[in-house]
Amino acid sequence: MHFLIVLYSRIMAVLSHITMKFISVPSPMIYSGAGSATALCGAIGRFACKRVLVVTDSVLVELGLVGRVTAELEKVGVAVEIYDAILPDPDFLQVEGGIALCRKMRCDAVLAIGGGSSLDAAKVIAVSAGSEQLPRKMEGFFKVAKRGLPLYCIPTTAGTGSEATMVSVITDTASSTKCFIVDPKLVPDAVALDASLMTGLPPAITAATGIDALTHAIESSLATEATEETLKKSLAATAMIFRYLETAVNDGENLEAREAMAVASCYAGAAFTVTNVGYVHGLAHQLGALCHIPHGLANALFLPHVLDFYCDTAAPQMARIAAAADIGSDADSDLERAKKLVEAVRSLEDRIGVPKSSDALKPEMVEELARRALKESHGLYGYPVPKYMRKAECEAIVRKILPA
Ligand SMILES: [Fe+2]
Repeated sequence: MHFLIVLYSRIMAVLSHITMKFISVPSPMIYSGAGSATALCGAIGRFACKRVLVVTDSVLVELGLVGRVTAELEKVGVAVEIYDAILPDPDFLQVEGGIALCRKMRCDAVLAIGGGSSLDAAKVIAVSAGSEQLPRKMEGFFKVAKRGLPLYCIPTTAGTGSEATMVSVITDTASSTKCFIVDPKLVPDAVALDASLMTGLPPAITAATGIDALTHAIESSLATEATEETLKKSLAATAMIFRYLETAVNDGENLEAREAMAVASCYAGAAFTVTNVGYVHGLAHQLGALCHIPHGLANALFLPHVLDFYCDTAAPQMARIAAAADIGSDADSDLERAKKLVEAVRSLEDRIGVPKSSDALKPEMVEELARRALKESHGLYGYPVPKYMRKAECEAIVRKILPA
């Protein structure tokens, strides 16, 4: 039975890889550096946009961060409508509210300001408001009918990489499942990686989102479908995150660290949107759906355990990641260096205060979580993992994050 599951999953991963060879994933125009949000606003004005729907959350509005950006839009003659109803793990209701406002106010572009939730919601709002296609009809691969409205993004966290991906994850609250919408038409037109908007991000969120970016980079590097181009980005992202994440957590005002993390997150996003992710995300998505654990934290809980599981089979690939991040030495065997990578991840997570267990997870949920995670990882998405997991192995990993 396990052999058939592995075979099916490998076939799906290879089919996905072949499909990607024929799909052109666009790259957004990137404005980077402190003040780049102002440059992007100037460009939106020059692109002849008249009225922009700003998709964001109420916390960023209250902090005044959204106002700083919208003031720049108004300076260049662009009117602004603010939709600040986005919550973590946005659902279809929130997306539909944004689409309705966008149409009602006749907005001709969408600007996302916020973390991955706002960016993911804005992607679907932009394509649906510009095309009449219902968001639920977009679920799956390459189902988006039309390009939709121009989409601009200003991420305020460095983690999801959503600003560089063709993926949007929307929650179906009725079934407590995550719906994936994957289409090149979701890639934003332009992005500002403005570290000056990230300095106020609390340490715990900086830590969790940073580990999300690290997970994207590592899972993309380990993917059996990784290419020379994706490896360049994913390995560079890993090196930057090991070098700068701790500083970004402990010294949030440090613009060099914030900027490096913003670039690393974007690189990791550009890599994993081509290769896909792996078991850490399969588990984290289901932990998020069942226990409402924020995505970055859910990844952080599982990352060291899944890497432990990979060690024997994927030692050369893990050693390559370690070498890129200057972990271990060339004198180490691949297995020794792979184990040092796992310890470096554990040590980084310890230093930035990431918890090792979740009180929200109950023993009676273990079997269901593992079943769902394997269904996601081995199913239609065919995650290109370097070693396949049996259900008992998956359940053992889930048990490791139960409270002691
Ligand atoms: Fe992620």
